[in-house]
Amino acid sequence: MEEVGRTLMLIKPDGVKRGLIGKIIQRIEQKGLKIIEIKVMSVDERTAGRLYAEHVHKQFFSSLVEYIMSGPVVAMVLEGKNVISVVRDMVGATDPSKAIKGTIRGDFASSLTQNTVHASDSLQSAKREISIFFDESKFIE
Ligand code: CMP
Repeated sequence: MEEVGRTLMLIKPDGVKRGLIGKIIQRIEQKGLKIIEIKVMSVDERTAGRLYAEHVHKQFFSSLVEYIMSGPVVAMVLEGKNVISVVRDMVGATDPSKAIKGTIRGDFASSLTQNTVHASDSLQSAKREISIFFDESKFIE
């Protein structure tokens, strides 16, 4: 059975700097996903650390944190059926050189760090990540 759920998507600093907000939102809307919340914001060190907590022991952690803080991002909560797999299919592989054409990273991203978007990898991560950026009790029903 298809379940309606929510996920967090971030348009990372490279996506914002390169003027890709409209193109990415167009793909989301064309796919029939609902945008429940959206904001342009800067990410501080604490927020970056919480978002990437699972990568804290990886050698690329500091560059990941530094990068997400390097410019404005767009944070969004998306809702739809099978939202995790639908959004991750739309986003494409983490490494843009492996992401297929037609995916956001396949079409726009340039490097593993500057990979244009972030999307939660499970409903459990989505719940945790959404709460880092938004107060779910204030969402419009
Ligand atoms: P994101 O979807 O935001 O989630 C974690 C991020 O870590 C990922 O996108 C990549 O930008 C980054 N990442 C994953 N693996 C590596 C790696 N091997 N080297 C550098 N960055 C990585």
